[in-house]
Amino acid sequence: MKPVIAFANHKGGVGKTTSAVNIASVLGETGKRVLVMDIDPQGSASLHFGVRDKGAGFLRALERSVAAPVLPTAVRGVDLIPSGPALAEAAQRFSGILGAELLARCLARTQGDWELVIIDCPPGPGILTTSALRVSQHVVIPIETNPLALNGLDQLIEMLDSMRRGTPHPWILGIIACRANPRRRVHRETMAELERRFPGRIAPFVRENVALAEAPARGKPVTLYAPDSNGAEDYRRVTQWMLERLG
Ligand SMILES: Nc1ncnc2c1ncn2[C@@H]1O[C@H](COP(=O)(O)OP(=O)(O)OP(=O)(O)O)[C@@H](O)[C@H]1O
Ligand SMILES: [Mg+2]
Repeated sequence: MKPVIAFANHKGGVGKTTSAVNIASVLGETGKRVLVMDIDPQGSASLHFGVRDKGAGFLRALERSVAAPVLPTAVRGVDLIPSGPALAEAAQRFSGILGAELLARCLARTQGDWELVIIDCPPGPGILTTSALRVSQHVVIPIETNPLALNGLDQLIEMLDSMRRGTPHPWILGIIACRANPRRRVHRETMAELERRFPGRIAPFVRENVALAEAPARGKPVTLYAPDSNGAEDYRRVTQWMLERLG
């Protein structure tokens, strides 16, 4: 089975979508074939690729255990399962294990020659996030570099522990400090604390960068919108690090 990587954090606005979309795009740039599954009813990853969708097709595919609709993106090698507001209904219709089972079946029936699947999770610990985590081999956790972000991280780690008790799996592939401001002392303190608690799992940080903030509204990943920006450079470095970790 191709590896599935969930980009998750209960906290909102920390860089989940920015990381998922731009890492997928760097992977595409380097010749990999990637499927991005947008499982957030906000549809942010879809919009970031310039796709506005209602999410009804994906919801129907989940309910009927059939292949999800897949669209090509403007990035070579990167395809997208788009999401939108209709997917919010999944939270009312599915319960814990059922949701994961439906997602697993839908994913298994969605055929393509992808080498990796990246899932962009919504914020919060709801059914969509837990289902995505259950079908994933790896989790990438984007966070902001401040001490409060570390408290939020504990909730997610507790949830991961309770879901995978006893497995030797190195489930957390990486933690990415997003919107980093390396000149601030709080950045250095948070990075040191993260490295102490999760040795070897801290990705190179991504600097606060205007191109990364502008790219979503243009419907383009930063590698297309501003290929020479610090944002593109940082996500290339993070992706390289991630590929080395994946082996
Ligand atoms: N390194 C960065 N520099 C500048 N802006 C950034 C950076 N990373 C993310 N942003 C901006 O911060 C906002 C939140 O990022 P993003 O949407 O990736 O977070 P999220 O965790 O997916 O949010 P949500 O929980 O709502 O899904 C967006 O407007 C994004 O463009
Ligand atoms: Mg998001």
